[in-house]
Amino acid sequence: MPDDARKLYRAEQDVVPAPGASTTLTVHIDGQPRTAVEGETLLQVARRAGCDVPTLCHDERLQPTGACRMCLVESSDSRRLVPSCRHPVADGQQVQTASARVLRHRQALLALYAADQPEQIVPGSELEVAMRRHGVAEGVPSVSSARAGRPEDANRFIQFQPDRCILCARCTRYCDEVEAVAAIAVGHRGPQTTIVTADMRGLLDTTCELCGGCVDTCPTGALVEKKAAPRQMELASLPTVRTTCGYCGVGCQMDLSVDREKGQIVRVQSPPPGTTTNDGNLCVKGRFATGYVGHPDRLTVPLLRDRTTGQLVPSTWDEALDRAHSLLVDAKARHGAHALAFISSSRATNEENYLAQKLARAAFGTNNCHQCAAT
Ligand code: SF4
Ligand code: SF4
Ligand code: FES
Repeated sequence: MPDDARKLYRAEQDVVPAPGASTTLTVHIDGQPRTAVEGETLLQVARRAGCDVPTLCHDERLQPTGACRMCLVESSDSRRLVPSCRHPVADGQQVQTASARVLRHRQALLALYAADQPEQIVPGSELEVAMRRHGVAEGVPSVSSARAGRPEDANRFIQFQPDRCILCARCTRYCDEVEAVAAIAVGHRGPQTTIVTADMRGLLDTTCELCGGCVDTCPTGALVEKKAAPRQMELASLPTVRTTCGYCGVGCQMDLSVDREKGQIVRVQSPPPGTTTNDGNLCVKGRFATGYVGHPDRLTVPLLRDRTTGQLVPSTWDEALDRAHSLLVDAKARHGAHALAFISSSRATNEENYLAQKLARAAFGTNNCHQCAAT
C-alpha cells in the first residue's frame, strides 16, 4: 500500500492502545455498568453487552481505521460522536449507543451511503442489512459515482464495481494485513478516490494471489466473484451449504451458495472470521476452482484394469478393494512384507494418514510408509 494511502487510513491508529494490557475497567454502556479490559474498544464492550452497533469498515481481523463512521456513539470523554470501533475504553466512561443523536446520525449517514449506490443495493450485503435494520427509507435518489474502475481487468475471478464502493478500505487492509500482498490500495483524491492497482493494471499483472479475501470482506458487493456477478442480486436468497474443502488436508470450511435446480455452485464464501479453522480466509483453489465438481472427466467410481485388455474399466468399491487386498497379500507372500511400500498424501486428513501408516505397520508388517509432507 502506498504511503499516502497508509497515512489517510491509519492517521489515528495510535489512539487504540496495544491489546494485552490486563487492567480491569468499568464502562457504563447505555446506563449499565460493564467490565472491560484496558486496550479494548467501545465496540467490543458494547457488542459483548448485546448492543446493536452497526459497522461497515470494521473487520475484527484488521486494524481499525474509523473510515465509515457507521459505529459512532456518544462517549463522556468527547463532545463529538466517537467511532466505537477504534475508541478505547476508559474507566468510568458513560457511553450511549442508541441515543436520539446517535440514531439521527446513523440514519443520515445510511441515507448518504444509499445515495452513493446504484438504485438497487445488493441484498444481503452488510450495507443493505444495516439499512433494513436501522430504518433508512428506500428510494433515496442515487448520485452517479465519479470513481474509476478497472473495466479492462482480464482476470477471470474478481470484478470491481466502483459505483458500489464506499471506500471503507476493508479490501485494501485485508490484502495488506492478512494476505501481506498489498496488490490494491486506496488511490486518487476527492470524488475520484477509488480502489487502485499499480498503474490501474489488471489483477493478473499485480502481486494479487486471487485469494478472494477482498471480495469476502467487502460490505457492499462492490467486489464480486465474476462468475457470480450476473446473479449478484439473488445470491442472498440461494441456499447455502457448509462443506469442507477437498483440495488439501487443512480442512478449511466453505459456505457454498448453490442453485439446486441447475446443480451448480454459484459462489464459494468462507464462513465468518472467528468461527472456523480458516478464520474467514480461503485460497484461490478453494474459492474459485470449483469447476471439477461437475466436470464430465471427474472420477466418480473406482477404475480397475481389465486383466485381458489392460483397459481401465469402472468397478464397484468392493471389487476395487478386493483386488487391492489380493494383490498386496500376494506380493507379501511372494516377496516378503518389506517389498511393500505405502505412500499417503498431505492432501489427506491426519486421520487418513494415520490409518495409512497403521495399515502398513499393523496389517502388513512393514515400516515402509511415507507421506509427501515428510520430505
Ligand atoms: S484477491 Fe487477495 S491478493 Fe488479490 S487483491 Fe484481493 S485480497 Fe489482495
Ligand atoms: S471495494 Fe468494498 S471493501 Fe473495498 S473499499 Fe470499496 S466498499 Fe470497501
Ligand atoms: S465501523 Fe467504526 S468507523 Fe467504520
